[in-house]
Amino acid sequence: MSKPLAIFGGPQMIETPRPHFSWPPPLPELAETVAAYIRAGRPLSIIDRSGIYAELEDRFATLHGRRYAVATSSGTMALYSAFFGLDLQPGDEVISTVYSFHATATPLLHLGVQVVFCDVEADTGNIDPASIEPLITSRTRAILTNDMWGHPVAKAAVGEIARRHDLAWVEDCSHAHFAEYEGKPVGSFGDVAVWSLQGNKLLTGGEGGILLTDSVDIYERATLLGHGLRRSKNCVRSPQWQPIAHTGFGLKLRMHPLAAVIVLHMLEHHSSRWLAERNETLQRFSKGLSRTGWVRPMARRAYVTSMGAHYGFKPRIDFEALGVTRERLIEALQAEGLVVSLPGSQPFHKLALFDPERFTVGRFEKHDNRGRAFPGAEAYYASILSLPTFTFRADWPLVDAYVAAFEKVFSQLEALR
Ligand SMILES: Cc1ncc(COP(=O)(O)O)c(C=O)c1O
Repeated sequence: MSKPLAIFGGPQMIETPRPHFSWPPPLPELAETVAAYIRAGRPLSIIDRSGIYAELEDRFATLHGRRYAVATSSGTMALYSAFFGLDLQPGDEVISTVYSFHATATPLLHLGVQVVFCDVEADTGNIDPASIEPLITSRTRAILTNDMWGHPVAKAAVGEIARRHDLAWVEDCSHAHFAEYEGKPVGSFGDVAVWSLQGNKLLTGGEGGILLTDSVDIYERATLLGHGLRRSKNCVRSPQWQPIAHTGFGLKLRMHPLAAVIVLHMLEHHSSRWLAERNETLQRFSKGLSRTGWVRPMARRAYVTSMGAHYGFKPRIDFEALGVTRERLIEALQAEGLVVSLPGSQPFHKLALFDPERFTVGRFEKHDNRGRAFPGAEAYYASILSLPTFTFRADWPLVDAYVAAFEKVFSQLEALR
């Protein structure tokens, strides 16, 4: 017989000091890499595409088989640059996944683009290809997807719809660095692909983002938006842009050179091992939780050959069958010392920022998604729990302790009901 649950005054299962997970891991040699860059007198501001920018952009583009790259100050600004790159105009419609981190779609509001929410698959949380076509109108210009938590979107199906309707496709790959769909990396499918390189991401510069594309039009417009001076003068060749080759469109969105140094260091020295170890560790976690009989692993479709950065660990539970609410289960697990919570990102139709009558951006009108139902997103969001993205073998004792704590709580469900 297990000990009483901690929520009822029993002993706590986990007393390991917090945080149980933080990212990136300590990298003692990183300070030396940054110091070496500074000691060598290399520039802390770069107005063209030389040095560390070229090194990072070329490496990242090559890894994805893409022609052009633009490093930016954040993933949000990379997305903004992608949308600007597509020359989207006020009133144009973009069909966007209804479930992601909000910044996947919020830059569209600043261009006056109508964000038309599209439901997601209830098991993966990714855009549901079957829900895209009914949303297409004469004003639709693009499809916007996110590879949720590292699980690639149904790339073949989305690509086929985009081609058939002559729509652009923007891939947000911020959760899924180096995840693969049938052996091909995410970010090598759409017209333009974007990654956040913010501090929690597997590959990070602290802050940063990057955009890849094969389209010279998208590349030139994205460059002109936030990279004027010598960069746009050198990189933007089309005659139509020459009058603004110096100023660009007047914003400044470039990455800090030291962020580029850090990203490149992680890419060259750590990321492949991190990817492998995180996937192995989360599989162990997932298998352990599945053995309890109540937790379903994260979905993994047959076309997924790698979950890549596997940005979040969000196993699923049928709370109705469990007979305990999600909030109550979280409370009981937290009392046992686990770091567990509701997922931070809510489906977009729950966010006030997308309300067409409130918080307007300039004089732009927002698309009215009110009154529409998103059963896939509701079901997906209601089924998942947010747990630490344990990554290293050194975390395995804690992983096993988490599993044991779940077992303890599940063995006394009656008391929680
Ligand atoms: C899916 C997704 N898109 C975009 C972003 C925005 O990236 P950033 O924070 O670098 O601006 C994030 C950040 O968490 C994200 O998770």
